Amino acid sequence: MASKIRTIVIPAAGQGTRLLPATKVTPKELMTVYDRPVLQYAIDEAANAGAERVVIIIHPSKEAIRQYLTHDQKYIRDLEARGKHELGRTLAQLTPPKQMEIVFAYQHEPLGLGHAISCAADFVLPGPIGIILPDDVIFDAFCMGEMARNYTGGHMVAAMEVAPEDTCNYGIFRLAGPSVGRCVAVSGMVEKPALGQAPSRLAAVGRYILDPVVLSSLKSTKRGAGGEIQLTDAIAYDADTVALSAFRFTGTRYDCGTHDGLLEAAFARQSMVKTARQVVA
Ligand code: G1P
Repeated sequence: MASKIRTIVIPAAGQGTRLLPATKVTPKELMTVYDRPVLQYAIDEAANAGAERVVIIIHPSKEAIRQYLTHDQKYIRDLEARGKHELGRTLAQLTPPKQMEIVFAYQHEPLGLGHAISCAADFVLPGPIGIILPDDVIFDAFCMGEMARNYTGGHMVAAMEVAPEDTCNYGIFRLAGPSVGRCVAVSGMVEKPALGQAPSRLAAVGRYILDPVVLSSLKSTKRGAGGEIQLTDAIAYDADTVALSAFRFTGTRYDCGTHDGLLEAAFARQSMVKTARQVVA
């Protein structure tokens, strides 16, 4: 039976060094993928999954994210007053739904994804916690909604196969048994294994539905790969007591934390927008 995911956490405090120099001043989550910022896709996905609350983790230097999400009805009214009705309508459509509350929490130090998630602890509603890493833009199917429909408890992490030489860039699953539909039984995970040490080619992608026990585990998670507190390590620790599954999502993922990923996602989005216009015409 699918459970409702009431809270979705979007970590957006990272420094975005792979996208320098723009990220000296522009948060990577506000970089544009064709017609809208990277973050907007995560917000739309959270709304699609029916979240009641979205907790965005930011760094004080990234207040532009808060400004972007402060729905400025006056801005829309001004566009309308200037006769720019279509633009006004587009902006109104991008406004998060009223029933989805957006709150902000701060991560002051770059201590890793696991640490970022623990910064949301005071803001999560009861029940399983959804996590969307906004850098991982997924098109063709809303991944979080798809996972929520297949979630039956425990920890569930989105997954895709990667080339052996790429395993060192991801959290990699230890396979434990056959798949049931798109859910793969796994017994653990390793964050960014050294080349040749990966337990499989099945990699974690930035969508998680986690039992809230992970927040307790994160409190005792030591620094791991890259000297950071890794979410993967807390999930792997829990795997002894909490059911863990990897979910092979159906969409296409773009790594929008890189220049190439941003460009590829932009072309994919351009094609979707053009096709949608042709259907309407
Ligand atoms: C994070 C996670 C990693 C996962 C990846 C997916 O790494 O730590 O397990 O495979 O996202 O994009 P990052 O890319 O933030 O270094």
